[in-house]
Amino acid sequence: MSFDKIWEKIFKNNEWGKYPGEELIRFVAKNFYSRSNANEITILEVGCGPGANLWYCAREGFTIFGIDGSNTAIKNCKTRLDDEVPGWNGELTVGDINKLPYENKKFDLVIDNECLSCNSISNSKKIILEIKRVLKTDGLFYSRTFSTDTWGYKTGQHIDKNSFLPSEGPLFKKGLIRFTDKKDLDLLYSNNFELISIEKIQRTMMNQQQKISEWIIEAKNK
Ligand SMILES: C[S@@+](CC[C@H](N)C(=O)[O-])C[C@H]1O[C@@H](n2cnc3c(N)ncnc32)[C@H](O)[C@@H]1O
Repeated sequence: MSFDKIWEKIFKNNEWGKYPGEELIRFVAKNFYSRSNANEITILEVGCGPGANLWYCAREGFTIFGIDGSNTAIKNCKTRLDDEVPGWNGELTVGDINKLPYENKKFDLVIDNECLSCNSISNSKKIILEIKRVLKTDGLFYSRTFSTDTWGYKTGQHIDKNSFLPSEGPLFKKGLIRFTDKKDLDLLYSNNFELISIEKIQRTMMNQQQKISEWIIEAKNK
């Protein structure tokens, strides 16, 4: 079990972002817009939350699957899809992504948008193997994950390798946050997938005094 119940509290008491980041839109457009059979393309988001990314993928006609440990997030995701994308194809599940309830080689794309970063390194290793198992051969993996250059790294309680309960910044009170360094990129991604690219996106906060820095990893299942 790696799901932290703090997420249930967060989604019960707060609004969450409703729209995908432009990096994900660019990735999906680049790899899938030229396909004529959108509804035959299966996309899974692990830790989908209330479904900003799945909402976008469903609107584009893809068949979408989402799994999250939070009941509230999955309920809100379903309500929004039913209201705004009538006739959407796919399935939403409440569960821990340590063990994915899908058959081998089911998905064309798996998305991790800051979900692996909520899991310790040992759990993340297990989750990565599950993602690999459910991806088709040549299926794609998109992962957006906090780097060690992000505000909150090395603050608060140290829980595990590169993992903290940050005591300041936007990751305060979001449970365990695991920040990824170059070694962990190898351990989690390069060792298990064929890398397409690793990019970094950065922005500043607090009038440029603090940094938020995220890896964007694009990979293919071997
Ligand atoms: C930072 S939020 C991101 C939500 C969503 N991906 C988005 O982009 O809006 C992290 C999400 O991952 C989920 N999560 C984290 N670890 C999980 C686990 N081990 N099993 C299931 N869900 C998990 C949380 O419930 C939360 O919805």
